[in-house]
Amino acid sequence: MLVGAGAALVATGAGAAAWQSAVGSMAQYEAFAAGLRDRLTPDLEAVVRYATLAANSHNTQPWRFQLEGHAIEIRPDLQRRTPVVDPDDHHLYVSLGCAAANLTLAAAATGRAGEASLTADGNGIRYDYFMGAPKADPLTDAIPKRQSTRAEYDGRATPSADLAELERAAAIPGVSLALVTDRARMNQVRDVVLAGNEDQMNDPAFMRELKQWIRFNPRSAMASGDGLFSASSGNPALPTGLGWIAFDRLFNVAQENRNYARQIDSSAGVAIFFGERPDHDHWIRVGQACQRFALAATKLGLKIAFINQPIEVARLRGDLAAIVGETRRPDLVVRFGYGPTLPFSPRRPVASVIA
Ligand SMILES: Cc1cc2nc3c(=O)[nH]c(=O)nc-3n(C[C@H](O)[C@H](O)[C@H](O)COP(=O)(O)O)c2cc1C
Repeated sequence: MLVGAGAALVATGAGAAAWQSAVGSMAQYEAFAAGLRDRLTPDLEAVVRYATLAANSHNTQPWRFQLEGHAIEIRPDLQRRTPVVDPDDHHLYVSLGCAAANLTLAAAATGRAGEASLTADGNGIRYDYFMGAPKADPLTDAIPKRQSTRAEYDGRATPSADLAELERAAAIPGVSLALVTDRARMNQVRDVVLAGNEDQMNDPAFMRELKQWIRFNPRSAMASGDGLFSASSGNPALPTGLGWIAFDRLFNVAQENRNYARQIDSSAGVAIFFGERPDHDHWIRVGQACQRFALAATKLGLKIAFINQPIEVARLRGDLAAIVGETRRPDLVVRFGYGPTLPFSPRRPVASVIA
């Protein structure tokens, strides 16, 4: 309806220029997103840029990088917390782990092989490296190509050799991975995702927080360099004011649940990650495992998308874990399969994340 109203406005001629200036240009956005994903060069700024291309919750990019001698620290940026969906900073630390996985690969590819570990205060990650020969890894090449693809996939199954490769890539001490590819259990996962989505969409605080992080058009996505760009989820560009109205009036549980059901039904499988313990160290490890899983998937021509509703809605965690015979707190749920490439999500300039 709103897109139609916008189109009518554009048809008036004077409206076209106003609309264009309010939403910005998709071609410009694509050049911006490609620049962020430019090839890896040997400088540390490029290594940090590759780290920031990691998956992260709501694309808040809750990190700061400190460069000192032969070490890089990744510290949480607590201004970028999402207290409603993530009250205990679980997702925030998982996001830091995702960045650490990219950092480790990119640093090694530029001749800085090393190891990531928890900082002494338990609140960050320290990557210590030594200079040597560059180490090529196909996962590094996948860093600028990976994306969260919130689209329908084509229903094709993933060959078992590829499933084994995904498991190998994600093998991190302290993290276990359950792969679900049979329809009976995928349907159970779908049901808890839908239940979680309904709880979240009926929670005004969740919806207020989510709305703050949505970027409804290329102009606002480029201006902030963060957040959830509507085109990255396959939605049309709207001026921000119209986007807010559309979000409040048109975004509804029934429609969203139909979308999620179709998306999960079209996927080849679901991956559920479990850390051994619920602490910063293990949440970071889960992030590393998940990011490596996503990179291996990208290399194999697979797409992934997070469906974390039954993690974020605490009452559903036990039901989700039980589907794969686990009793621990589940940390992440990701679906995978073969699907289209959507517009890439934005990132902030590297200079703004180096402390
Ligand atoms: C811990 C964590 C939780 C996430 N939860 C969700 C989620 O529930 N739903 C979703 O669509 N994306 C989720 N994402 C994906 C992020 O929104 C995505 O990584 C971010 O917007 C950047 O986009 P990109 O992955 O395409 O680079 C999550 C990512 C992380 C690391």
